[in-house]
Amino acid sequence: MQETPGETQDDGVSEDRALVDRDAAARELARLAVEIARHDAAYHGADAPEISDAAYDALKRRNAAIEARFPDLARPDSPSRRVGAPPAEGFGKVRHRTPMLSLANAFEAEEAAEFDARLRRFLGLASDAPLAFVAEPKIDGLSLALRYEQGRLTLAATRGDGREGEDVTANARTVADIPETLAGAPAAIEIRGEVYMRHDAFAALNARQAAAGARPFANPRNAAAGSLRQLDPAVTAERPLRFFAYSWADASEPVAPTQGAALERLRAMGLPVNPETRICDGVEALLAFHRDLEARRATLGYDIDGVVYKVDDLALQERLGFRATTPRWALAHKFPAQIATTVLEGIEIQVGRTGALSPVARLRPVTVGGVVVSSATLHNEDYIAGRGGDGRPIREGRDLRVGDTVTVYRAGDVIPKVLDVDLSRRPPEAQPWAPPETCPACGAHAVREAGEAVRRCTGGLTCPAQAVERLKHFVSRDAFDIEGLGAKQVEALCADGWIAEPADIFALPERYGDGAVRQLKNRDGWGAKSAANLFAAIEARRTIGLDRLIFALGVRHVGETSARLLARAYGSWAAFEAAMRDAAPRAGEAWEHLLSLDGVGETLAGALVDFFAEAHNREALDRLLVRLTVEDMAPAARESPVAGKTVVFTGSLERMTRAEAKARAEALGAKVAGSVSAKTDYVVAGADAGSKLKKAEALGVAVLSEDDWLALLTG
Ligand code: IVH
Repeated sequence: MQETPGETQDDGVSEDRALVDRDAAARELARLAVEIARHDAAYHGADAPEISDAAYDALKRRNAAIEARFPDLARPDSPSRRVGAPPAEGFGKVRHRTPMLSLANAFEAEEAAEFDARLRRFLGLASDAPLAFVAEPKIDGLSLALRYEQGRLTLAATRGDGREGEDVTANARTVADIPETLAGAPAAIEIRGEVYMRHDAFAALNARQAAAGARPFANPRNAAAGSLRQLDPAVTAERPLRFFAYSWADASEPVAPTQGAALERLRAMGLPVNPETRICDGVEALLAFHRDLEARRATLGYDIDGVVYKVDDLALQERLGFRATTPRWALAHKFPAQIATTVLEGIEIQVGRTGALSPVARLRPVTVGGVVVSSATLHNEDYIAGRGGDGRPIREGRDLRVGDTVTVYRAGDVIPKVLDVDLSRRPPEAQPWAPPETCPACGAHAVREAGEAVRRCTGGLTCPAQAVERLKHFVSRDAFDIEGLGAKQVEALCADGWIAEPADIFALPERYGDGAVRQLKNRDGWGAKSAANLFAAIEARRTIGLDRLIFALGVRHVGETSARLLARAYGSWAAFEAAMRDAAPRAGEAWEHLLSLDGVGETLAGALVDFFAEAHNREALDRLLVRLTVEDMAPAARESPVAGKTVVFTGSLERMTRAEAKARAEALGAKVAGSVSAKTDYVVAGADAGSKLKKAEALGVAVLSEDDWLALLTG
């Protein structure tokens, strides 16, 4: 085919055969699909982009231009169908350079004193040594990260799952409290803070919503979140959003020596900092501030749900570091829960993914702290009968019956709970509740094993309710996180027989082919766009990180943190799976190694080997894995000299506390084990080291003094 200047010029690309020749276009689209997928993986998966954002955008634009010219050549794996691509289809994803963590919570005054004592133990500080804090109101909104380069706002991102959020830059620019430029800021800095809505503005917004026939928001926090996550920034601009800055990350130069001074500096840069913030020189001052703020809570004009205590000295913050998801140097001291009275209208049974039958209270809807509550967890049958986990009475032994008047509470964002029952209002016909003897979903026997609080369905893999719950877990946020496939959609697709196990999700495109979008779109709740988006989201997850895959399996006791730990320890799926099979006899090297991982106990290890010993599970995994690419996982910090090494600390250390030594080693990618085995790389022996040192010597494991160890860390 002859190229004509007219055809090539509108995209500004001359001599581009792909824009005029069908065959060249198909070849180029195939090449672009592979190349863009590779850059996506490098960017999102390995966090190591190989090309600039501009070069990446140019590839995407080229792909879009060719597709616009030859729409029928658009591939099922086209980058334009993938989530997080064009802003109009949703928000772009932003990987946080420094994760956005949450805070450890406390509810009682004693916990503030324990916090102080814990910090002192960690740092090796005497109980009378000075230790100052900053106390800040805990704003009940949603956190936002704002990147400023050369003093200009360049990126705004929501927290998301802490590692990856959404690009809401255009929306953030419409918030009056968020400055477009900062005065006297470091060359690069990420400001973190909370977006919230004031009470008066919230009431006015809800009145406008009602007048327009739209659903009102449940509370200011939901209103703020809904307003910031609008696809059209013009809508956000009309919403009365506010912002308070409270921290920062990735600054190109130190911001200040203390938290208090840093907040002052943020204020001087032009950022709004909460005026209630106080420096407190000890626990008593923190608690006095907490009491004072709680008393004035209703007069502030915006929602706060507690006070955040932060160690003031940033050098100490640095030493204290982080646990898996929370900083050691901060504590959120929440205000007491809000309570309401309502009627227990029924008790329903939910079947979990491991077969646990959980009773749930159906409540007459009631507003608790601004949120309408209509159900609450009842934990297990003992809890309903008035017995705690240790067999002792709870609610002074009062049981719960359908028809009872109960008090319910919500603490922060915790699921609502039943607090107590008012026996004086019990209907005379109310009967004690009897736990089910069969599973309400599959009819299999429900048994409660000795020593267990839960009753379980014995239907196992044949119980449809368990299968649905496993699938919900599989697609959940910390697992495969398939956008557009939430709990409701999983239930519907299972009910219609489209999916029964994880592999079916990835088989959907091939099974239902081109007609899939059409078929799906005719169902309840699906439109052409959401159906197409779902298929794009499924494609985008065909490559998955090892940690997410392990978590997604839904093995009992394996949470997100232990999944990440296992992924780091074994590195690849092949190594992990082989080790789990080798550990099956619950003895031998593979089993010992599994147990030597910090955070892995007998229960978790047992659950893992049981899972892999089950033929059904292995077959389902085989069906799934042929459809996926599993990304290997590097140890926490590959470049560190101790990354991937197993270390045992023994004896008393002098230069740092045991907790600090452990935290530092883990932060550098080492595994800290409690006992010495042939797999141990180093034993760090302090004074009075005993049997572990002897064992290390017997096994020929390298023994280091505390000084040797510190020298090794610093290279
Ligand atoms: S500091 C590394 N300070 O509370 C921890 N958080 O429950 C960074 N929040 O995700 C958070 N007010 O959205 C901090 N003064 C304050 C806060 C605050 C509200 C929110 C924040 C965080 C959540 C954790």
